[in-house]
Amino acid sequence: MTVSVQTDAVGRDALRPHAEHTFAAELAALAAADDRPRPARWKLSPWAVSTYLLGGTLPDGTLVTPKYVGPRRLVEVAVATLATDRALLLLGVPGTAKTWVSEHLAAAVSGDSTLLVQGTAGTPEEAVRYGWNYARLLAHGPSREALVPSPVMRAMAEGMTVRVEELTRIPADVQDALITILSEKTLPVPELAEEVQAVRGFNLVATANDRDRGVNELSSALRRRFNTVVLPLPATPEAEVDIVSRRVAQIGHSLDLPPAPDGMAEIRRVVTVFRELRDGVTTDGRTRLKSPSGTLSTAEAISVVTGGLALAAHFGDGVLRPGDVAAGILGAVVRDPTADRLVWQEYVETVVREREGWKDFYRACREAAE
Ligand SMILES: Nc1ncnc2c1ncn2[C@@H]1O[C@H](COP(=O)(O)OP(=O)(O)OP(=O)(O)O)[C@@H](O)[C@H]1O
Ligand SMILES: [Mg+2]
Repeated sequence: MTVSVQTDAVGRDALRPHAEHTFAAELAALAAADDRPRPARWKLSPWAVSTYLLGGTLPDGTLVTPKYVGPRRLVEVAVATLATDRALLLLGVPGTAKTWVSEHLAAAVSGDSTLLVQGTAGTPEEAVRYGWNYARLLAHGPSREALVPSPVMRAMAEGMTVRVEELTRIPADVQDALITILSEKTLPVPELAEEVQAVRGFNLVATANDRDRGVNELSSALRRRFNTVVLPLPATPEAEVDIVSRRVAQIGHSLDLPPAPDGMAEIRRVVTVFRELRDGVTTDGRTRLKSPSGTLSTAEAISVVTGGLALAAHFGDGVLRPGDVAAGILGAVVRDPTADRLVWQEYVETVVREREGWKDFYRACREAAE
């Protein structure tokens, strides 16, 4: 009892509440409006899950905010995959919302996004199978009580969605343990002469970054167990501005930052700079540019603007100005102190300096670089 009360208090004041808490009202409204068939143990129908992700208006007028901004079809394929016996692999360059989409999928499908395995080079087999509580194991021998199930095992037993983050960072032999689970849908526990069979509703969403270096490739045997959905970078500047402004507003709200009036001009500027450097060419197509070594993802644009808002709120007059984002942009672009610095200087002197309406920003970039 005490424990659940404490968890509740933490849940409400958590720095980053889980999707199913943040969007509890939307999920409840969707469940109420949803009269389509739901796969076994799904909280919502596939249609309602994709509406939750992409946003929309319900018959009763409830507005569902878009979580993911991108091609509808991708989301539909992802959701449909989860309703089959194949697992889902979200693939893409850094910052394309793979983790974000997987969290929201788990929240909408199973009402719980916390069954999570974080993939690292050190992820042990226990993280995908099971471990033991050694005190109990030594005292009473192997038993159900001494067994510590992994998130995967719990998802199998309860018919839930489990998430595996950064699948390709997991050592090959641990990845292999997933092959049996995904193809046989059962997890043997030889110590107890038992097995845990997955019940309907169980599925797995994995994410992997296709730009990670020095990672374990997915074995073809494991890859065949997945339907792969590649999440793209935002197709247009407008889409990216839309994503950044939405997320910045949400994050700013959760950090109690006052909303910045007229922040859009700086958001557009950050997105323009990131896209031009990423694409290696200016928006008008006239000037070729060198690209810096970092990825300059949408996620980084969001951090730069959020950081700028904090500066504006605490040290400025609350209005987001060029000086508030310039230092953040510099930090995101210049990862390698020599090569990237040259790329940035060239961009500032040839593009920023000449562009109409960018004089203040040019000055701010010069000051930030000093
Ligand atoms: N298309 C998009 N729609 C909505 N939000 C997006 C989109 N692209 C990026 N974001 C935002 O970018 C942030 C980072 O996304 P996330 O951490 O999920 O990226 P990732 O693909 O998992 O990156 P990494 O490969 O580094 O793990 C999130 O706050 C997310 O809201
Ligand atoms: Mg991620």
